[in-house]
Amino acid sequence: MPSSPTPDFNLIAPVYDALAQAVYGQAQLKAQAHFLPLVPAQSRVLILGGGSGWILPQLLQKSAPAQVLYLEASAKMVHLAKRRLGQSPSNTNVEFRVGTEADLLPQEKFHVVITPFVLDLFSQDQAQNMMQRLSQALLPSSLWLHTDFYLSASPTQRLWQKPLLWSMYKFFGLVSGISGKSLPPFELLFTSLGFQTKQEAFFFRGFIRAQVLQRPDPA
Ligand SMILES: C[S@@+](CC[C@H](N)C(=O)[O-])C[C@H]1O[C@@H](n2cnc3c(N)ncnc32)[C@H](O)[C@@H]1O
Repeated sequence: MPSSPTPDFNLIAPVYDALAQAVYGQAQLKAQAHFLPLVPAQSRVLILGGGSGWILPQLLQKSAPAQVLYLEASAKMVHLAKRRLGQSPSNTNVEFRVGTEADLLPQEKFHVVITPFVLDLFSQDQAQNMMQRLSQALLPSSLWLHTDFYLSASPTQRLWQKPLLWSMYKFFGLVSGISGKSLPPFELLFTSLGFQTKQEAFFFRGFIRAQVLQRPDPA
């Protein structure tokens, strides 16, 4: 499976969180944290593209996983995440790895995968390849906690959502070299991998969606 071209968030890493909060306030953070209490105790968790690591202390406060692999493409983001975790007490074994889903080892398997605002950076084909690789790393009955932007069905909401989305794709295309130009069709991609939405919650007037997905066990 060919790996997707990796965007470069090193340049923007020092200001990414401030920028995101200037636009979305606490909404992106609340959305990512919303379903963390569902992470089973003693589970092995993969976080892909966690950025500066805000999610890590949240995960460790709201659940008790045994192991976390923090897999993040930007070395600067990983540096920030390590520093942040160093400031909060934890009994969990957290491994930081600079890399992408292509750097997962074949034998590495997880009970939970978390993809917060990362799959939207890619084209449909690239997102599909990434999701296939991630799904191969999941154990039976695993949970997939996915948080990303979402275009409402309502034409009135789309009036402001579409230009905002467009401007984000333009901005991160220039600054971080992302290849995506629009939101991948997540429903279609998850369904094609056999995942069903178990729970969902919306934030920022419906523009951000947090989902819990699961693949039914084979009979
Ligand atoms: C838009 S930022 C979101 C960061 C964080 N999840 C948040 O919401 O604050 C996307 C992050 O994903 C990382 N990233 C992009 N592609 C990746 C990949 N294939 N594997 C791992 N990390 C990736 C980037 O380096 C960046 O830190």
